[in-house]
Amino acid sequence: MAESVVACSSKDAKIEKLTTRVLANLQNFLVKCLFAILSYGPMPKHITFIMDGNRRYAKFRSIQQGTGHRAGFSALIDTLVHCNDMGVKYITVYAFSIDNFKRDKSEVQSLMELMEEKINELLDNQSIVHKMNCKINFWGNLDLMCEPVRLAAQKLMACTAGNTGLVLSVCMPYNSTSEIVNAVNEACAERREVLQRDHVHGGDCNGQAANNGVHSEIAVSDLDRHMYSAGCPEPDIVIRTSGETRLSNFLLWQTTFSHLQSPQALWPDFSFKHLVWAILQYQRVYPYLMQNRELAKKQL
Ligand SMILES: *[C@@H]1O[C@H](CO)[C@@H](O)[C@H](O)[C@H]1NC(C)=O
Ligand SMILES: *[C@@H]1O[C@H](CO)[C@@H](O)[C@H](O)[C@H]1NC(C)=O
Repeated sequence: MAESVVACSSKDAKIEKLTTRVLANLQNFLVKCLFAILSYGPMPKHITFIMDGNRRYAKFRSIQQGTGHRAGFSALIDTLVHCNDMGVKYITVYAFSIDNFKRDKSEVQSLMELMEEKINELLDNQSIVHKMNCKINFWGNLDLMCEPVRLAAQKLMACTAGNTGLVLSVCMPYNSTSEIVNAVNEACAERREVLQRDHVHGGDCNGQAANNGVHSEIAVSDLDRHMYSAGCPEPDIVIRTSGETRLSNFLLWQTTFSHLQSPQALWPDFSFKHLVWAILQYQRVYPYLMQNRELAKKQL
């Protein structure tokens, strides 16, 4: 009697295991079908996220604020994995704006500690980042960060610099106007150097520079080269979660033709289905986006 009960429960366990496996396979299969359907349409190369709603997530659940940001970090990792599976090569996220420094001191402090912890986790060579062969950039003025975070960020950039998979750019501490000012300064410094060199080597006895004023104006392409985003295609989609519709000084230089979306989900709740939906919406308006791009080219 006892034996048959044991046999029975082990049989139940076997069936349960089998069911789980079948369901997992089915889910995998459905996800693959979904990718196949999506890939018939134009796929975005570059998706950017304004990861809004971590604090509200914690508030709604009456949990500690840091817990919302932790949940937000795992939402980011999940999103990276899905994007990697779908072949989206560039992901850029707004992690910390320069304005965020104005928040409560203890909040800024705990955010910095969380960042340091998470960057160090990613530095581990067993981390998902290395498995995906992911290259990580930080866009922003790292000098504003406290030293441990800055050093960890620089280390992570250096040790993923040779990776050839997905490119994750983390904007922190960032704002777009500061990026533009920085690019203008760098472009001017570069120009001054060229002019000085020409003056020393190429000037005639009247001290006239050899270049005939060709180099005297800064062009759009000069600024492009000095943006943090140099070498990266313009974003196809900008997603700001939690239903907010402001750009908040994020990638203003780069988003002229991007499709803006503001799903209601708070960032920690942002999941696979939201991502798929975002890409479907992008595919729906794609002809219109391309038309705008072509029109702008013609007018130039
Ligand atoms: C990962 O790092 C450890 C030391 O931290 C090293 O011993 C190991 O060889 C590394 N593994 C790979 C795959 O690079
Ligand atoms: C952007 O950053 C600069 C510092 O580089 C700061 O002076 C400015 O207030 C910021 N602007 C906004 C709108 O956050």
